[in-house]
Amino acid sequence: MEVVVVDGEEKAGLVVADIFCRALASRERPTFGVATGGSPLPTYAELIRRHREEGLSFAGASAFLLDEYLGLSEGHPGLYRTFIEEVFAGGVGLPAERLFGPQVHGVRADAACAEYEERIERAGGIDVQLLGIGGDGHIGFNEPSSSLASRTRIKTLTQETREDNARFFGGDVEAVPMHVVTMGIGTIMEARHLVLVATGEGKAECLARAIEGPLTARVPASVLQMHPHVTVVADEAAASGLELLEYYKETYRGKPDWQSC
Ligand code: F6R
Repeated sequence: MEVVVVDGEEKAGLVVADIFCRALASRERPTFGVATGGSPLPTYAELIRRHREEGLSFAGASAFLLDEYLGLSEGHPGLYRTFIEEVFAGGVGLPAERLFGPQVHGVRADAACAEYEERIERAGGIDVQLLGIGGDGHIGFNEPSSSLASRTRIKTLTQETREDNARFFGGDVEAVPMHVVTMGIGTIMEARHLVLVATGEGKAECLARAIEGPLTARVPASVLQMHPHVTVVADEAAASGLELLEYYKETYRGKPDWQSC
């Protein structure tokens, strides 16, 4: 696992945007797993800037939503599809037909989960999966106690997560759906490169438990310790609980050129 500690969330966005750019440059049909929430916003803003000002092209690329709410009407502003269209896909010229997500309207959600798994497989899997981390250690919406081998399925959010996400629903916790469809932990682990972004001191404890604590379903993000290619990008505040902080910094400073990402 590579831990990159940066000075502020904008810098985190630059590091992650570089990873996206390398995938775009090296693959004909790159596939990206895209997270919502606050953590990836500087990355999406930087990618949009590069698209507009430097001609960065997403032609041939596809994106897959990491998760989606259940129970919101079609076109609801709280839907993650709407969110990603607004903060990322629309800005980089990724058309709606190449933005995939679990079908949560008009079909049974369990059938939609299986179909979504097949969709990802048909695309050849995910090259770069962008992740945030919940205060309780979740990745996607795999809450504590999720099976570390789980596939895309319906989950129930914890009260803590609903409270965290109320900010996207006008501060109203009751408006945050209780149920979601999320890529499973096993699904996420099949992506070729996992990139986790954590910023702000509110992430310090969960990040330390995920990176340096024991592997446990109590902290779903700790499963990243089992993946062969993980980049964690954290700002100083989020990294402040890491015991090996100085080692990570020294490693990144001395990173050889041949180790491209
Ligand atoms: C979002 C997602 C969640 C968030 C996590 C952190 O699609 O699956 O795991 O990444 O809750 O959210 P923020 O970035 O808002 O702190």
